[in-house]
Amino acid sequence: MEILTIETQPIDGQKPGTSGLRKKTRTFMAPHYLENFIQAIWDGIGGVAGKTLVLGGDGRYFSPQAAQVILRMAAASGAKRVIVGQGALLSTPAASNLIRTRKTDGGIILSASHNPGGIDEDFGVKFNTPNGGPAAEDVTGRIFAATKTITAYKIAEAQDADLSSLGEHAMGDMVVEVVDPVADYADLMEQLFDFDAIRGMIAGGFRICFDAMHAVTGPYAKEVLENRLGAKAGSVKNAIPKPDFGGGHPDPNPIWAKELMEIMHADDAPDFGAASDGDGDRNMIMGPGTYVSPSDSLAVLAANAHRAPAYANGLAGVARSMPTSRALDAVAEKKKLDCYETPTGWKFFGNLLDAGKITLCGEESAGTGSNHVREKDGLWAVLLWLNILASTGKGVVELLHDHWAEYGRNFYSRHDFEGIENDKADAMFDALTLKIEDIAGESFAGRKVIAADDFTYHDPVDGSVAEHQGIRIMFENGGRVVYRLSGTGTVGATLRVYLEDVSDAADAKDRDAQDALSDMIAAAHEIARIEHHTGRTEPDVRA
Ligand code: G6P
Ligand code: ZN
Repeated sequence: MEILTIETQPIDGQKPGTSGLRKKTRTFMAPHYLENFIQAIWDGIGGVAGKTLVLGGDGRYFSPQAAQVILRMAAASGAKRVIVGQGALLSTPAASNLIRTRKTDGGIILSASHNPGGIDEDFGVKFNTPNGGPAAEDVTGRIFAATKTITAYKIAEAQDADLSSLGEHAMGDMVVEVVDPVADYADLMEQLFDFDAIRGMIAGGFRICFDAMHAVTGPYAKEVLENRLGAKAGSVKNAIPKPDFGGGHPDPNPIWAKELMEIMHADDAPDFGAASDGDGDRNMIMGPGTYVSPSDSLAVLAANAHRAPAYANGLAGVARSMPTSRALDAVAEKKKLDCYETPTGWKFFGNLLDAGKITLCGEESAGTGSNHVREKDGLWAVLLWLNILASTGKGVVELLHDHWAEYGRNFYSRHDFEGIENDKADAMFDALTLKIEDIAGESFAGRKVIAADDFTYHDPVDGSVAEHQGIRIMFENGGRVVYRLSGTGTVGATLRVYLEDVSDAADAKDRDAQDALSDMIAAAHEIARIEHHTGRTEPDVRA
């Protein structure tokens, strides 16, 4: 096998964001773009000679070609073995699981998560470390530094590896091991949850609808929900992964999971509805006629996790990202659990999970997970819900309402303003940063500000510090507004405004969240002068 050394030059903008490097697919397809970044990963982690890696992704457009390039580059740099999901498919949580159980040196996930796929849409590359989690800031920092000094990359002259057939194939001295992407993951789920109880509930007539959104969870959900748990054939919809996700956004929220919303709002709605995203790490949970917000879902799961075998001994602690609602904190307080507040990005949970400080964690962006892997996990969240429903005998809506009655309700919504010009977004944040210095004591929309800051995270495990993680404004009586710029977009800036207000009033369960948040929405616009800076009066998305 001949190894070629190809001269190249640094390419601007290869800085990993909230979750790996995400760009337009055509950008990744441009000469040297992917190769430069992969070489920078190898350099950033001290080379891959003698190492074993995992490789797979959500199957989006360009994944098969990218997988072959990565295999040739791994072979050229002396990797010992690459474990690849058949067809280059692996959901993000399944990849995390394989990285851990096979005791590898890490892995590469090809995905842009919930962003659309296709030649004119998005692609992404993410490196996960041997703990199975997304690389922490020091590692991504070294990778980024390597992209800025690169002069050449190595790639082997080899035929494509056959990724369609299971088993070991040789690429020079390197072994390409093609594995069933689903089996190990499904086995893990069976260890964590009471499958007998869930099977019994389903056999008793409990109906499920899971929308895989033409993305990677289709085969996983079919195996687990239909084959192993007995849900009737067709319970899993849009189950075949497509390179363009059927032309949709594989993002499980009320806007993009429209089909599921319609099914769950129909007169004959199933008892339980759920969806997952492109790479299988996000989740959306519904009961008949009711959408469960991710922040509420996290709180309900934390309050009831002990009903599943894996968590029967209780939780070591819990964590949420800073913009996620504080519904979780109410549970932690009552159950006397430590509750950590991290910046947005799953990677920030890694140290807490590794150190055993937390068992369960989640984010407002539809991610929930536990110490079983080091990624958020869509199907896991679905199964934990099902386990809890089977063990309590309650329906989704009843469980949610009982939760609010016990812990109070945190009304919550996120308003996104997309495609803002970067300089306008920066100007808004500069002004906001100045304004919050002496904002305490002022009132907006009739609500008094009691504190405000630019969130800094001090990692309690390794002492690392992450600054400028979002501006938070706290109001009297539990109101809160948080402003952040998204770190996952590929065009312009997306302003995220997170709105929260607390109520323990008896009628809390009947109120519409947007209506209950009207004070916070008005205050958020007034404080940041969103229209003045961006020209926008209404968000593009209300999540
Ligand atoms: C990805 C990350 C999450 C994050 C979400 C939103 O899904 O894995 O950790 O919460 O993106 O991030 P953003 O920077 O776009 O708000
Ligand atoms: Zn995802």
